Amino acid sequence: MAARGRPFRCERAPSGPIPLTIILKYTWRHLSCMILGISGSPRNQATEYVLGQALKMLEERGHPTELFSVRGKEIGFCRHCDYCLKNKECYFEDDMYTLYPLLRESRGLVIATPVYNGGLSAQTKAVMDRCRALFAAEIDVLRGKAGMAIAVGGDRMGGQELAIQQIHAFYILNGMLPVGGGSFGANLGATFWSRDTLDGVQEDGEGARTLRKTVRRFAEVLERVEGDGGR
Ligand SMILES: Cc1cc2nc3c(=O)[nH]c(=O)nc-3n(C[C@H](O)[C@H](O)[C@H](O)COP(=O)(O)O)c2cc1C
Repeated sequence: MAARGRPFRCERAPSGPIPLTIILKYTWRHLSCMILGISGSPRNQATEYVLGQALKMLEERGHPTELFSVRGKEIGFCRHCDYCLKNKECYFEDDMYTLYPLLRESRGLVIATPVYNGGLSAQTKAVMDRCRALFAAEIDVLRGKAGMAIAVGGDRMGGQELAIQQIHAFYILNGMLPVGGGSFGANLGATFWSRDTLDGVQEDGEGARTLRKTVRRFAEVLERVEGDGGR
């Protein structure tokens, strides 16, 4: 993991036959400098697709990425049992235990949610609430990291901006830097109109524009934070 106060540098893996020790070394380096994308959709449809596009754009700009989807995972709601406050870990050993180390090691987040009832999905919210255990163990674990948001609705104006604001609130509460796409096109972040299908989201040229603008700004912030030594 990048040490505080030291400029963050991601290196590329060498070409040619690679010994196991080097593979392990680069796997560790990759995990410790990657941008984590989280899809809050239970389906492999529009949300996961556009998140994949966002991560591809970031990879093309030299930022390693990992994608975690809630699809097919067991992620229960936070029960507010406060076990984590005493024990610094969650009582429920479900698939959040795969996500916790990824969140810890990431240097930025891209949270993508489908729009459900005018806001984010219950799955996305469950992930956020279960982060209480992560913060109980290390309050500043996400502090200073950049975050962008993607919302995909079946309607053109179905609540995408409210869903993004809910994701931004999570970023702000935890000391992160929420990044929007800027006025004249993307505003708070990437917003898509899927018409409830994968084909629909792939045909949403305006949504794709909001994604490009947001990813560009997000990458700029990542590079600036890196230039400041991650502070
Ligand atoms: C329970 C539920 C509630 C939904 N509510 C909304 C809504 O309020 N606004 C909207 O635009 N779309 C709504 N949708 C449609 C989804 O946002 C849309 O189909 C989206 O593409 C789903 O993401 P996915 O393709 O990744 O599954 C809802 C879908 C479900 C299942």
